[in-house]
Amino acid sequence: MRAPRTVLGLMSGTSMDAVDGVEVRFRGRRLELLRVWSVAYPAALRKRLMGAASNAATCWETAALHHDLGRFYADCARRHSSRNGVEAVGLHGQTVFHGPSQRGAATLQLGEPAYLARELGVPVVSNFRSADMAVGGQGAPLATLFHVRVFARRGRRVCVQNLGGIGNVTSIDCRSRKEPMVQAFDTGPANLLLDLAMQRLTAGRRTMDRDGQWAARGCVADDLVRAWLRHPFFRRPPPKSTGREMFGAPYLNRLWSDMDDRQLGGADRLATLTEFTARSVALNYRWHLVGVPDEVVLCGGGAKNPALVRNLEVALHREIPGIRLTRCDAHGWPTQAVEGAAFALLARECLMGKPGNLPETTGARQAVRCGQITHP
Ligand SMILES: Nc1ncnc2c1ncn2[C@@H]1O[C@H](COP(=O)(O)OP(=O)(O)OP(=O)(O)O)[C@@H](O)[C@H]1O
Ligand SMILES: [Mg+2]
Repeated sequence: MRAPRTVLGLMSGTSMDAVDGVEVRFRGRRLELLRVWSVAYPAALRKRLMGAASNAATCWETAALHHDLGRFYADCARRHSSRNGVEAVGLHGQTVFHGPSQRGAATLQLGEPAYLARELGVPVVSNFRSADMAVGGQGAPLATLFHVRVFARRGRRVCVQNLGGIGNVTSIDCRSRKEPMVQAFDTGPANLLLDLAMQRLTAGRRTMDRDGQWAARGCVADDLVRAWLRHPFFRRPPPKSTGREMFGAPYLNRLWSDMDDRQLGGADRLATLTEFTARSVALNYRWHLVGVPDEVVLCGGGAKNPALVRNLEVALHREIPGIRLTRCDAHGWPTQAVEGAAFALLARECLMGKPGNLPETTGARQAVRCGQITHP
């Protein structure tokens, strides 16, 4: 197939908040952002997805959900994408299970691609993670190729820190003349615990601590943060990836009872969880990054949470004095566009028969073509 020039990436991550559509034009190795849109999941669909992700759905319900979600994605694309011009789609789908390190390693993204292929009349690439797992990899993180393509700076060492439901870092070292040295791994929770806590405190009326307002009003229970930071995931060396299975509602329940013992108020709970999240990222940098970055570029929804960003800045400064934090907007990519654009790039690589994973980051034995193609 001729390399598609304009590709739509569709991302819905662990936060289960929305589907982000990102249209990207490729000019040789350069990527140009054409259009970004976002559609929040309708409450009923979100509830079913949460149910499936917490193992509460039957097989038949999951099958229906897979197709309903596929129809939802197709409907979103019909209403929001600039139909003429898009030549291919990269559809991440919604992860309902990710357990690459367990015995019987598995990952599952829902959202049947056939409806999108039919609606737009172009090939849809989906199921990106399995090929990497089939050669022994974690199947994650996969946005790495895009991070390197867009954020690498000659002579510098840059970290891209995504703050989605889960946090992940890509460290790109271009200080030598050779190929960039790349590390990438999940750092643990980013917005996941904050969103769950807000839902719990407001009986579902609020889905997030918007602009970190609750956290900003609260006091941090520092000893709890220190105790929680002993979680083995933070110390585990890469390759590593995680999800709701490890840091979802059952995990929050445990932290909640610690906070009950202290009789913490709502704002204090958000402040404590936000501080924990920020410091868990910084700890990963201390233990696992080879060398220190000059700059950390923040992306994902958590970059819009000033409390989380401020705490992260303090925690990182403690580890790496003088480090500079910027947001991906300053580099021409809105916070919400980065992950979607990454899957547009991966779709294009797949259609051109090129590998999408970086084995040194996912732990795979080799570079492989990632994704499966559904034809219109
Ligand atoms: N203004 C804001 N204030 C605080 N938090 C915000 C704000 N905007 C977004 N967020 C947080 O960002 C989350 C969504 O981020 P994002 O879409 O990057 O995560 P995601 O869907 O899990 O993606 P991925 O897993 O691919 O990184 C929301 O659930 C919320 O917690
Ligand atoms: Mg999202």
